[in-house]
Amino acid sequence: MSSGRTIVVGITGGIAAYKAVNVVRAFVLRGDCVHVVATPAALRFVGKPTLEAISRNPVHTDLYEGVAEVRHVAIGQSADLIVVAPATANTIAKLATGLADDLLGNTILASTAPLVIAPAMHTEMWNNAATVANVATLRARGVIVVGPGVGQLTGADAGAGRMEEPDTIVAAALAALALADRTDGPGADLVGKHVVITAGGTREPLDPVRFLGNRSSGKQGVALAQAALARGASVTLIAANLEVAAPTAVELRLVGTALELEAAVTDAAAGADAVIMAAAVADYRPVQVSAGKIKKDETGDTLLLELTRNPDILAGLARTKRTGQVLIGFAAETEPDPVRLLVLGREKMARKGCDFLVVNRVGWAEGFASDRNAITVLDHDGDIVCEVSGTKMSVAGRILDLIG
Ligand code: CTP
Repeated sequence: MSSGRTIVVGITGGIAAYKAVNVVRAFVLRGDCVHVVATPAALRFVGKPTLEAISRNPVHTDLYEGVAEVRHVAIGQSADLIVVAPATANTIAKLATGLADDLLGNTILASTAPLVIAPAMHTEMWNNAATVANVATLRARGVIVVGPGVGQLTGADAGAGRMEEPDTIVAAALAALALADRTDGPGADLVGKHVVITAGGTREPLDPVRFLGNRSSGKQGVALAQAALARGASVTLIAANLEVAAPTAVELRLVGTALELEAAVTDAAAGADAVIMAAAVADYRPVQVSAGKIKKDETGDTLLLELTRNPDILAGLARTKRTGQVLIGFAAETEPDPVRLLVLGREKMARKGCDFLVVNRVGWAEGFASDRNAITVLDHDGDIVCEVSGTKMSVAGRILDLIG
Protein backbone atom coordinates (compact mmCIF):
# COMPACT_ATOMS: atom_id res chain seq x y z
CA MET A 1 0.00 0.00 0.00
CA SER A 2 1.42 3.40 -0.92
CA SER A 3 1.14 6.53 1.15
CA GLY A 4 2.64 8.71 -1.63
CA ARG A 5 4.28 10.88 0.99
CA THR A 6 7.42 12.96 0.89
CA ILE A 7 9.96 11.33 3.12
CA VAL A 8 13.38 12.73 3.87
CA VAL A 9 15.95 10.10 4.76
CA GLY A 10 18.94 11.60 6.53
CA ILE A 11 22.03 9.42 6.36
CA THR A 12 24.97 10.16 8.63
CA GLY A 13 28.50 8.85 8.80
CA GLY A 14 28.50 5.37 10.23
CA ILE A 15 29.14 1.98 8.71
CA ALA A 16 25.42 1.20 9.00
CA ALA A 17 24.91 3.77 6.21
CA TYR A 18 25.07 0.89 3.75
CA LYS A 19 21.93 -0.57 5.33
CA ALA A 20 20.13 2.78 4.96
CA VAL A 21 19.93 2.02 1.24
CA ASN A 22 17.29 -0.60 2.10
CA VAL A 23 15.34 1.94 4.16
CA VAL A 24 15.28 4.28 1.15
CA ARG A 25 14.28 1.42 -1.14
CA ALA A 26 11.42 0.30 1.11
CA PHE A 27 9.85 3.78 1.00
CA VAL A 28 10.34 4.09 -2.76
CA LEU A 29 8.71 0.71 -3.34
CA ARG A 30 5.71 1.90 -1.31
CA GLY A 31 5.34 4.78 -3.74
CA ASP A 32 6.71 7.47 -1.46
CA CYS A 33 8.79 10.35 -2.79
CA VAL A 34 12.13 10.03 -1.06
CA HIS A 35 14.77 12.75 -0.73
CA VAL A 36 18.07 11.66 0.72
CA VAL A 37 20.08 14.21 2.65
CA ALA A 38 23.47 12.64 3.33
CA THR A 39 26.23 14.15 5.41
CA PRO A 40 29.67 14.25 3.74
CA ALA A 41 30.78 11.56 6.20
CA ALA A 42 27.87 9.31 5.11
CA LEU A 43 29.13 9.48 1.52
CA ARG A 44 32.41 7.93 2.65
CA PHE A 45 30.42 4.81 3.49
CA VAL A 46 27.90 4.67 0.64
CA GLY A 47 28.11 6.19 -2.82
CA LYS A 48 25.97 9.07 -4.04
CA PRO A 49 25.12 7.25 -7.32
CA THR A 50 23.72 4.32 -5.32
CA LEU A 51 21.53 6.61 -3.24
CA GLU A 52 20.39 8.59 -6.29
CA ALA A 53 19.53 5.42 -8.22
CA ILE A 54 17.62 3.89 -5.32
CA SER A 55 15.84 7.09 -4.20
CA ARG A 56 15.18 8.17 -7.82
CA ASN A 57 16.02 11.73 -6.79
CA PRO A 58 19.16 13.87 -6.54
CA VAL A 59 20.97 13.43 -3.25
CA HIS A 60 21.80 16.62 -1.39
CA THR A 61 24.74 17.13 0.93
CA ASP A 62 26.03 20.64 0.59
CA LEU A 63 24.45 23.50 2.51
CA TYR A 64 25.67 25.98 -0.09
CA GLU A 65 24.22 24.30 -3.16
CA GLY A 66 20.73 25.28 -4.34
CA VAL A 67 20.83 28.53 -2.37
CA ALA A 68 18.54 30.26 -4.89
CA GLU A 69 15.77 27.78 -4.12
CA VAL A 70 16.45 28.13 -0.35
CA ARG A 71 17.12 24.41 -0.25
CA HIS A 72 18.32 24.44 3.36
CA VAL A 73 14.75 24.99 4.52
CA ALA A 74 12.75 23.85 1.47
CA ILE A 75 13.53 20.15 1.91
CA GLY A 76 12.46 20.17 5.56
CA GLN A 77 9.32 22.16 4.85
CA SER A 78 8.22 19.67 2.20
CA ALA A 79 8.73 16.59 4.38
CA ASP A 80 5.85 14.56 5.80
CA LEU A 81 8.37 12.55 7.76
CA ILE A 82 12.10 12.64 8.43
CA VAL A 83 14.01 9.45 9.18
CA VAL A 84 17.67 9.62 10.19
CA ALA A 85 19.34 6.24 9.72
CA PRO A 86 21.93 5.68 10.91
CA ALA A 87 22.04 8.44 13.51
CA THR A 88 25.59 8.67 14.87
CA ALA A 89 26.41 9.85 18.39
CA ASN A 90 27.67 13.09 16.81
CA THR A 91 24.42 13.70 14.92
CA ILE A 92 22.35 12.90 18.00
CA ALA A 93 24.39 15.45 19.97
CA LYS A 94 23.88 18.05 17.26
CA LEU A 95 20.13 17.40 17.09
CA ALA A 96 19.83 17.65 20.87
CA THR A 97 21.42 21.10 20.84
CA GLY A 98 19.67 22.23 17.66
CA LEU A 99 22.85 22.72 15.68
CA ALA A 100 22.44 23.50 11.99
CA ASP A 101 25.95 23.46 10.58
CA ASP A 102 25.09 21.14 7.70
CA LEU A 103 22.18 20.55 5.32
CA LEU A 104 20.67 17.78 7.45
CA GLY A 105 20.67 19.94 10.59
CA ASN A 106 18.98 22.79 8.70
CA THR A 107 16.46 20.42 7.14
CA ILE A 108 15.45 19.02 10.52
CA LEU A 109 15.22 22.41 12.21
CA ALA A 110 13.05 23.73 9.37
CA SER A 111 10.60 20.84 9.60
CA THR A 112 7.52 20.20 11.73
CA ALA A 113 7.24 16.62 10.47
CA PRO A 114 7.65 13.64 12.82
CA LEU A 115 11.31 12.75 13.29
CA VAL A 116 12.42 9.15 13.62
CA ILE A 117 16.06 8.34 14.35
CA ALA A 118 17.83 4.99 14.29
CA PRO A 119 20.98 5.30 16.40
CA ALA A 120 24.05 3.25 15.47
CA MET A 121 27.32 3.35 17.38
CA HIS A 122 29.54 1.30 19.64
CA THR A 123 28.11 0.26 22.98
CA GLU A 124 30.45 2.52 24.96
CA MET A 125 29.30 5.55 22.95
CA TRP A 126 25.61 4.61 23.36
CA ASN A 127 26.08 4.20 27.12
CA ASN A 128 28.11 7.40 27.49
CA ALA A 129 26.36 9.87 29.81
CA ALA A 130 26.44 12.54 27.08
CA THR A 131 24.63 10.31 24.59
CA VAL A 132 22.17 9.09 27.23
CA ALA A 133 21.29 12.71 28.07
CA ASN A 134 21.04 13.71 24.40
CA VAL A 135 18.72 10.81 23.60
CA ALA A 136 16.56 11.65 26.62
CA THR A 137 16.33 15.26 25.40
CA LEU A 138 15.25 14.15 21.94
CA ARG A 139 12.70 11.70 23.33
CA ALA A 140 11.24 14.41 25.56
CA ARG A 141 10.78 16.51 22.40
CA GLY A 142 8.80 13.73 20.77
CA VAL A 143 11.56 12.32 18.58
CA ILE A 144 10.97 8.61 18.00
CA VAL A 145 14.09 6.60 18.71
CA VAL A 146 14.16 3.19 17.04
CA GLY A 147 16.71 0.90 18.58
CA PRO A 148 19.56 0.48 18.65
CA GLY A 149 19.44 -3.30 18.70
CA VAL A 150 21.78 -5.56 20.57
CA GLY A 151 24.12 -7.76 18.57
CA GLN A 152 27.34 -8.02 16.62
CA LEU A 153 28.92 -4.61 15.98
CA THR A 154 31.41 -3.69 13.25
CA GLY A 155 34.49 -4.98 15.01
CA ALA A 156 34.83 -8.08 17.11
CA ASP A 157 32.66 -6.56 19.81
CA ALA A 158 28.96 -7.11 20.43
CA GLY A 159 26.39 -5.24 22.49
CA ALA A 160 23.83 -2.43 22.28
CA GLY A 161 24.47 -0.06 19.38
CA ARG A 162 23.62 -1.99 16.25
CA MET A 163 21.31 -0.08 13.92
CA GLU A 164 17.85 -1.66 13.87
CA GLU A 165 17.05 -3.65 10.75
CA PRO A 166 15.62 -1.54 7.88
CA ASP A 167 12.20 -3.29 8.15
CA THR A 168 11.89 -2.27 11.79
CA ILE A 169 12.92 1.32 11.05
CA VAL A 170 10.41 1.59 8.21
CA ALA A 171 7.65 0.05 10.34
CA ALA A 172 8.33 2.54 13.16
CA ALA A 173 8.43 5.41 10.66
CA LEU A 174 5.09 4.39 9.16
CA ALA A 175 3.59 4.13 12.63
CA ALA A 176 4.84 7.67 13.34
CA LEU A 177 3.18 8.86 10.12
CA ALA A 178 -0.04 7.09 11.02
CA LEU A 179 -0.03 8.73 14.46
CA ALA A 180 0.64 12.15 12.97
CA ASP A 181 -2.22 11.64 10.50
CA ARG A 182 -4.89 11.14 13.09
CA THR A 183 -7.11 14.12 13.56
CA ASP A 184 -7.67 13.14 17.18
CA GLY A 185 -3.86 12.61 17.32
CA PRO A 186 -2.95 10.42 20.27
CA GLY A 187 0.63 11.74 20.00
CA ALA A 188 2.30 11.24 23.34
CA ASP A 189 -0.89 10.07 25.07
CA LEU A 190 0.88 7.40 27.13
CA VAL A 191 3.29 9.78 28.89
CA GLY A 192 3.35 8.86 32.57
CA LYS A 193 1.86 5.42 31.97
CA HIS A 194 3.67 2.20 32.79
CA VAL A 195 2.88 -0.55 30.33
CA VAL A 196 3.97 -4.16 30.87
CA ILE A 197 4.19 -6.29 27.74
CA THR A 198 5.02 -9.98 27.47
CA ALA A 199 6.43 -11.17 24.16
CA GLY A 200 7.83 -14.27 22.52
CA GLY A 201 7.20 -17.88 23.40
CA THR A 202 8.07 -19.83 26.53
CA ARG A 203 10.31 -22.89 26.32
CA GLU A 204 9.83 -25.75 28.73
CA PRO A 205 13.03 -27.76 29.15
CA LEU A 206 13.08 -31.55 28.83
CA ASP A 207 16.78 -31.89 29.54
CA PRO A 208 19.80 -29.57 29.34
CA VAL A 209 19.67 -29.47 25.53
CA ARG A 210 15.99 -29.83 24.55
CA PHE A 211 12.77 -27.97 25.15
CA LEU A 212 9.08 -27.89 24.23
CA GLY A 213 8.40 -24.56 22.56
CA ASN A 214 6.21 -22.73 20.09
CA ARG A 215 6.70 -20.66 16.96
CA SER A 216 6.05 -17.22 18.43
CA SER A 217 8.79 -14.83 17.21
CA GLY A 218 7.91 -11.98 19.57
CA LYS A 219 7.46 -9.53 16.67
CA GLN A 220 3.98 -8.38 17.71
CA GLY A 221 5.03 -7.91 21.34
CA VAL A 222 8.15 -5.97 20.32
CA ALA A 223 6.06 -3.81 17.96
CA LEU A 224 3.74 -3.07 20.90
CA ALA A 225 6.76 -2.09 23.02
CA GLN A 226 8.11 0.20 20.27
CA ALA A 227 4.73 1.81 19.70
CA ALA A 228 4.16 2.31 23.45
CA LEU A 229 7.61 3.94 23.81
CA ALA A 230 6.85 6.18 20.83
CA ARG A 231 3.70 7.34 22.62
CA GLY A 232 5.64 8.20 25.75
CA ALA A 233 4.96 5.18 27.98
CA SER A 234 7.55 3.62 30.20
CA VAL A 235 7.64 0.00 29.14
CA THR A 236 8.61 -3.20 30.88
CA LEU A 237 9.13 -5.92 28.28
CA ILE A 238 9.05 -9.46 29.59
CA ALA A 239 10.80 -11.31 26.82
CA ALA A 240 10.59 -15.05 26.35
CA ASN A 241 13.09 -16.26 23.75
CA LEU A 242 12.65 -13.39 21.28
CA GLU A 243 13.75 -13.88 17.67
CA VAL A 244 13.88 -10.11 17.18
CA ALA A 245 15.86 -7.45 19.06
CA ALA A 246 14.14 -5.75 21.97
CA PRO A 247 14.11 -1.93 21.95
CA THR A 248 16.85 -0.71 24.27
CA ALA A 249 14.63 1.88 25.93
CA VAL A 250 12.48 -0.74 27.66
CA GLU A 251 13.07 -2.23 31.07
CA LEU A 252 13.89 -5.72 29.82
CA ARG A 253 13.25 -8.86 31.82
CA LEU A 254 14.40 -12.06 30.17
CA VAL A 255 12.48 -15.23 30.98
CA GLY A 256 12.55 -18.76 29.62
CA THR A 257 9.69 -20.81 30.98
CA ALA A 258 6.02 -20.18 31.74
CA LEU A 259 6.71 -20.20 35.48
CA GLU A 260 9.49 -17.61 35.06
CA LEU A 261 7.18 -15.48 32.93
CA GLU A 262 4.44 -15.75 35.56
CA ALA A 263 6.80 -14.58 38.32
CA ALA A 264 8.12 -11.66 36.24
CA VAL A 265 4.76 -10.42 34.96
CA THR A 266 3.04 -10.76 38.33
CA ASP A 267 5.78 -8.68 39.91
CA ALA A 268 5.79 -6.02 37.16
CA ALA A 269 1.99 -5.86 36.93
CA ALA A 270 1.67 -4.68 40.53
CA GLY A 271 2.50 -1.09 39.55
CA ALA A 272 1.37 -1.12 35.92
CA ASP A 273 -1.36 0.91 34.24
CA ALA A 274 -1.72 -1.73 31.55
CA VAL A 275 -0.58 -5.30 30.99
CA ILE A 276 -0.53 -6.83 27.52
CA MET A 277 -0.04 -10.58 27.37
CA ALA A 278 1.24 -11.02 23.82
CA ALA A 279 3.51 -13.94 24.73
CA ALA A 280 2.62 -17.47 23.68
CA VAL A 281 2.73 -19.37 26.93
CA ALA A 282 3.19 -23.14 27.00
CA ASP A 283 0.11 -24.72 28.52
CA TYR A 284 2.10 -27.72 29.76
CA ARG A 285 5.60 -28.44 31.04
CA PRO A 286 7.39 -31.76 31.55
CA VAL A 287 6.73 -33.26 34.98
CA GLN A 288 10.39 -34.19 35.17
CA VAL A 289 13.32 -32.33 33.71
CA SER A 290 16.16 -34.76 33.15
CA ALA A 291 19.43 -33.65 34.74
CA GLY A 292 21.41 -35.20 31.87
CA LYS A 293 20.70 -35.53 28.16
CA ILE A 294 17.94 -38.07 27.49
CA LYS A 295 19.62 -40.99 25.67
CA LYS A 296 17.90 -43.13 23.02
CA ASP A 297 19.61 -46.24 24.39
CA GLU A 298 17.69 -45.76 27.62
CA THR A 299 14.33 -44.58 26.19
CA GLY A 300 13.98 -47.06 23.28
CA ASP A 301 11.88 -46.63 20.11
CA THR A 302 9.08 -44.60 21.67
CA LEU A 303 9.24 -41.93 24.30
CA LEU A 304 6.27 -40.86 26.36
CA LEU A 305 6.51 -37.45 27.97
CA GLU A 306 4.43 -36.77 31.04
CA LEU A 307 3.33 -33.14 31.13
CA THR A 308 1.62 -31.08 33.76
CA ARG A 309 -0.51 -27.95 33.28
CA ASN A 310 1.10 -24.58 33.64
CA PRO A 311 -0.90 -21.91 35.47
CA ASP A 312 -3.12 -19.69 33.32
CA ILE A 313 -1.15 -16.49 33.90
CA LEU A 314 -3.62 -14.16 32.17
CA ALA A 315 -6.56 -15.50 34.19
CA GLY A 316 -4.47 -15.07 37.35
CA LEU A 317 -3.67 -11.45 36.46
CA ALA A 318 -7.38 -10.80 35.82
CA ARG A 319 -8.26 -12.09 39.30
CA THR A 320 -5.71 -9.90 41.08
CA LYS A 321 -5.63 -6.78 38.90
CA ARG A 322 -5.93 -3.45 40.58
CA THR A 323 -8.72 -1.00 39.81
CA GLY A 324 -8.10 1.02 36.71
CA GLN A 325 -5.49 -1.33 35.27
CA VAL A 326 -6.22 -2.41 31.70
CA LEU A 327 -5.49 -6.08 31.00
CA ILE A 328 -5.23 -7.24 27.40
CA GLY A 329 -4.85 -10.86 26.32
CA PHE A 330 -4.28 -12.48 22.97
CA ALA A 331 -6.09 -15.49 21.52
CA ALA A 332 -4.09 -17.43 18.96
CA GLU A 333 -6.48 -19.68 17.04
CA THR A 334 -6.13 -21.86 13.96
CA GLU A 335 -9.91 -21.90 13.25
CA PRO A 336 -10.38 -20.87 9.58
CA ASP A 337 -14.11 -20.00 9.81
CA PRO A 338 -14.46 -16.32 10.90
CA VAL A 339 -17.75 -16.93 12.76
CA ARG A 340 -16.41 -19.91 14.65
CA LEU A 341 -13.19 -17.95 15.33
CA LEU A 342 -15.24 -15.33 17.16
CA VAL A 343 -17.10 -18.01 19.13
CA LEU A 344 -13.73 -19.39 20.27
CA GLY A 345 -12.58 -15.87 21.12
CA ARG A 346 -15.68 -15.22 23.22
CA GLU A 347 -15.28 -18.55 25.03
CA LYS A 348 -11.66 -17.68 25.75
CA MET A 349 -12.64 -14.23 27.02
CA ALA A 350 -15.11 -15.88 29.42
CA ARG A 351 -12.32 -18.16 30.72
CA LYS A 352 -9.69 -15.42 31.02
CA GLY A 353 -11.73 -12.48 32.34
CA CYS A 354 -9.42 -9.79 30.94
CA ASP A 355 -10.62 -6.37 29.69
CA PHE A 356 -9.84 -6.94 26.01
CA LEU A 357 -8.92 -10.01 23.99
CA VAL A 358 -7.01 -9.66 20.71
CA VAL A 359 -8.12 -12.57 18.55
CA ASN A 360 -5.72 -13.50 15.76
CA ARG A 361 -5.55 -16.44 13.45
CA VAL A 362 -2.34 -18.43 13.39
CA GLY A 363 -1.31 -21.35 11.25
CA TRP A 364 1.47 -22.88 9.24
CA ALA A 365 1.75 -19.73 7.12
CA GLU A 366 -0.05 -17.17 9.27
CA GLY A 367 0.78 -15.10 12.29
CA PHE A 368 4.15 -15.98 13.70
CA ALA A 369 7.23 -14.77 11.80
CA SER A 370 5.21 -12.42 9.58
CA ASP A 371 5.50 -8.63 9.73
CA ARG A 372 1.73 -8.37 9.27
CA ASN A 373 -1.20 -9.36 11.39
CA ALA A 374 -4.99 -9.34 11.25
CA ILE A 375 -6.86 -9.02 14.52
CA THR A 376 -10.32 -8.68 15.99
CA VAL A 377 -10.50 -7.12 19.44
CA LEU A 378 -13.25 -8.21 21.83
CA ASP A 379 -14.22 -6.38 24.97
CA HIS A 380 -14.99 -8.03 28.32
CA ASP A 381 -18.57 -8.79 27.20
CA GLY A 382 -17.37 -10.37 23.95
CA ASP A 383 -18.48 -7.45 21.76
CA ILE A 384 -16.25 -6.49 18.84
CA VAL A 385 -14.32 -3.29 19.53
CA CYS A 386 -12.35 -3.15 16.28
CA GLU A 387 -11.00 -5.22 13.43
CA VAL A 388 -7.59 -4.27 12.04
CA SER A 389 -5.18 -5.73 9.54
CA GLY A 390 -1.81 -4.31 8.59
CA THR A 391 1.78 -4.28 9.77
CA LYS A 392 2.39 -5.47 13.30
CA MET A 393 3.34 -1.86 14.08
CA SER A 394 0.01 -0.45 12.87
CA VAL A 395 -1.87 -3.23 14.66
CA ALA A 396 0.11 -2.33 17.79
CA GLY A 397 -1.10 1.26 17.46
CA ARG A 398 -4.75 0.21 17.50
CA ILE A 399 -4.21 -2.08 20.48
CA LEU A 400 -2.59 0.78 22.40
CA ASP A 401 -5.60 2.97 21.62
CA LEU A 402 -7.42 0.70 24.13
CA ILE A 403 -5.30 2.04 26.96
CA GLY A 404 -4.60 5.58 25.70
N1 CTP B 1 -1.84 -17.48 28.48
C1 CTP B 1 -1.45 -17.44 29.79
N2 CTP B 1 -1.11 -18.59 30.44
C2 CTP B 1 -1.16 -19.78 29.82
C3 CTP B 1 -1.56 -19.83 28.47
C4 CTP B 1 -1.90 -18.68 27.83
O1 CTP B 1 -1.41 -16.37 30.37
N3 CTP B 1 -0.81 -20.86 30.46
C5 CTP B 1 -2.25 -16.23 27.85
C6 CTP B 1 -1.53 -15.86 26.56
O2 CTP B 1 -0.45 -15.00 26.83
C7 CTP B 1 -2.61 -15.14 25.78
C8 CTP B 1 -3.89 -15.79 26.25
O3 CTP B 1 -3.60 -16.39 27.50
O4 CTP B 1 -2.69 -13.77 26.12
C9 CTP B 1 -4.44 -16.85 25.31
O5 CTP B 1 -3.42 -17.74 24.94
P1 CTP B 1 -3.78 -18.92 23.93
O6 CTP B 1 -2.55 -19.74 23.72
O7 CTP B 1 -4.50 -18.38 22.75
O8 CTP B 1 -4.89 -19.72 24.73
P2 CTP B 1 -4.81 -20.81 25.85
O9 CTP B 1 -5.28 -20.22 27.12
O10 CTP B 1 -3.47 -21.43 25.87
O11 CTP B 1 -5.92 -21.84 25.34
P3 CTP B 1 -5.84 -22.90 24.12
O12 CTP B 1 -4.37 -23.21 23.90
O13 CTP B 1 -6.61 -24.05 24.64
O14 CTP B 1 -6.46 -22.21 22.95
